[in-house]
Amino acid sequence: MKELLHALAPGDADWRIANQIDPLRLPAHVAIIMDGNGRWAKQRNYPRIMGHRAGVTVVGNIVETCAQLGLEALTLYAFSVENWKRPRLEVEGLWRLLRFYLRKELPKMMRNGIQFAAIGRIESLPEVVQAELQTVIEKTSNNRGMRLNLAINYGGRTELVDAVNAMLENARAEGNLEALEITEESIAEHLYTAGQKDPDLLIRTSGEMRVSNFLLWQIAYAELYVTETLWPDFCRRDLLEAICEYQSRDRRFGGLTRSPAPVVESHELLLDDEGLELPLAQLG
Ligand code: FPP
Repeated sequence: MKELLHALAPGDADWRIANQIDPLRLPAHVAIIMDGNGRWAKQRNYPRIMGHRAGVTVVGNIVETCAQLGLEALTLYAFSVENWKRPRLEVEGLWRLLRFYLRKELPKMMRNGIQFAAIGRIESLPEVVQAELQTVIEKTSNNRGMRLNLAINYGGRTELVDAVNAMLENARAEGNLEALEITEESIAEHLYTAGQKDPDLLIRTSGEMRVSNFLLWQIAYAELYVTETLWPDFCRRDLLEAICEYQSRDRRFGGLTRSPAPVVESHELLLDDEGLELPLAQLG
């Protein structure tokens, strides 16, 4: 957080919003569905790929801001398993942009201590793309700052299928299939994000109210924040506003609010003098 405040001009709008953020209640992990590149391009009569190109610049800025804030992890949805349905030229353009991004941003990742990871079915990507991903993964592997997960050829359902198959395969290899027990912990340990905290905040740009097969397991208790802003227009201020909004939420994880109603200590309180159940309305 200190690093971010140093990077801002004291008194300007971003600095004022950053100062409203409580550094002790930052989300540990933020996930973002970067949507709206196509609409951004359409508004300008540009080909769609120009929207993605503008989106890449925003990725660089937002990643750096998150690292300066001191987040533990940032996960960005760059390409879904469903995105192969797009025209070949767009898909190929996205691979070119990804390679450009990796080369351009590596020095910034090193400066900011970012550890880079790619999550998804990476083995199905073009080999040149896999090779460049591997280079950045290796070069940033000793960094100890924010973890940046880029979700590429990612699907929440395929991730769960891969996790279950990995468990089956391990159990088979160990001759343990009979004893295999599936638990929430064992599933989490076999996800692409194993060992990382679940996202606290899921941001989606450009207004669609859906999660689009993103981190289905991990976002069970994430706070959702949807903004109308298109991804290429999403800026540092938008991110800081999302975090302020997150800090105003009352996270209950299925429990009670911070100022809970009196707890009913005994079921006897739910019964009247004759032992009959009281209608809920009478319980106040
Ligand atoms: C959604 O916009 C965005 C994507 C499918 C890809 C996200 C890609 C980027 C932000 C750029 C590439 C990123 C890296 C790191 C290289 P859309 O095309 O679905 O927009 P629309 O809904 O307005 O059509």
